[in-house]
Amino acid sequence: MTLEVIVLAAGKGTRMRSALPKVMHDLAGRPLLDHVLETISSLSAQRIHVVCGYGAEIVRKHVGEPGWINWVAQVEQLGTGHAVQQALPQVADDAIVLVVYGDVPLVRAQTLGGLLAQAGTNRLALLTAQLPNPSGYGRIVRNEDSQVIGIVEERDASADELDIGEINTGFMAAPAAALRRWLAMVGSGNDQGEYYLTDIISCAVHEDIDVVTVSCVDGDEVLGVNSRGELAVAERLYQTRQAESLMAAGLTLHDPARFDLRGQLHFGEDCEIDVNVVIKGTVTLGTRVRIGPNCQITDSKIGNGVEVRANSVIEGAEMAENCTIGPFARLRAGTKLAAGARVGNFVETKNTTFGRDSKASHLAYLGDAQVGQRANIGAGVITCNYDGADKHQTVIGDDAFIGSNSALVAPVQVGDGATVGAGSAISRDVPSGELALTRAEQKTQHDWRRPQKKKTE
Ligand code: UD1
Ligand code: CA
Repeated sequence: MTLEVIVLAAGKGTRMRSALPKVMHDLAGRPLLDHVLETISSLSAQRIHVVCGYGAEIVRKHVGEPGWINWVAQVEQLGTGHAVQQALPQVADDAIVLVVYGDVPLVRAQTLGGLLAQAGTNRLALLTAQLPNPSGYGRIVRNEDSQVIGIVEERDASADELDIGEINTGFMAAPAAALRRWLAMVGSGNDQGEYYLTDIISCAVHEDIDVVTVSCVDGDEVLGVNSRGELAVAERLYQTRQAESLMAAGLTLHDPARFDLRGQLHFGEDCEIDVNVVIKGTVTLGTRVRIGPNCQITDSKIGNGVEVRANSVIEGAEMAENCTIGPFARLRAGTKLAAGARVGNFVETKNTTFGRDSKASHLAYLGDAQVGQRANIGAGVITCNYDGADKHQTVIGDDAFIGSNSALVAPVQVGDGATVGAGSAISRDVPSGELALTRAEQKTQHDWRRPQKKKTE
């Protein structure tokens, strides 16, 4: 019995009120469709067919052209039954087909495995769920012997049918040959004038084919995303799931409801994350890393014992052990800090390396800079790395001291142990161990008097 999966992703998603195809809306930083494809990739299917239509070029461009996906076009979106029909000519007659809706992102592979275990050459397996609030979903209609006799869409349902709490999740598994036969019989005489996949249930019942249901215990798994409101609900559910597994793996989250992971987070022992932190891309924390509130960290590696204080934004950076970052620091791509370095408040770094124990404690911009060990960068120091056309390097030696409010006009080098006096504009190299300053000398004027306001009577 071979398995082929058909993923339905052709709809516009009218209720999203968006130009973007619905399955391309992000959940935890990745399109809904990616979540679905990831889940089904573990089912060892012979082939995966993805039906796309509205915004097909956008969908296909995003997914790329992996060999394991067969793209199927549904030029006009005439309904879920019609969508499945577009894929069937390319499905082997003796295969079992699993139908998956691209807008139901939270289903677990294990749940789909349970459904497939019930599938067979002469039966139709349907994943259903009991929901406290079934509104919006198709309802499962059973006869007095509790056998499924059909699915009725909410907009076509009678008042009694609307009271049914058991819903159609959209996941079903059926033999390809039978699906082909049934779909040829389905009409579009319903409220939406569409060819509904759900109408094949009554076809199966008519042919005396077993319709078996598998009940999904966790109703959250089968949430369909049709609106931005539902997308937000799905996002929170997904984030909660991730937060729980991170905590189970030993991460402290001060408030799991105020933590967002849009990618992968790897961490060592005893790391701690305060509230409102957003992690994107791939982020690796060593051991004992502490992240303060309101930080955003993207594609970075943070070493053992590093403290990232509140409101810092870090992207494409690497920090060795025991660095201190922030509060309010901004580390941009290509920032590499050696052990014990400190980048303090309102300091921005880009394409910059710091040697061991070097510091820029406040209000500085370091771009295209190479800073040695134990250097001290004063408040207000700017590397002028851009001349309007090209970027240039600033090299600062070990134990150098750059006085506050200095501009280092690149390309320029400050030697080991050199000092730059506060308020200097340095455009020529400073030799090791020397003091350079460009500021005008201070004068004291003894006979000067401050102007006084004339008194009027
Ligand atoms: C569908 C089911 C409903 C079920 C619910 C579960 C039908 C008729 N209804 O309703 O019983 O409770 O899902 O979430 O199947 N699509 C296409 N081509 C089309 C139409 C839709 O590819 O012509 C795709 C959509 O992109 C979407 C999926 O099929 O990913 C489901 O379509 P949607 O319109 O969201 O169906 P629902 O009204 O949610
Ligand atoms: Ca839907």
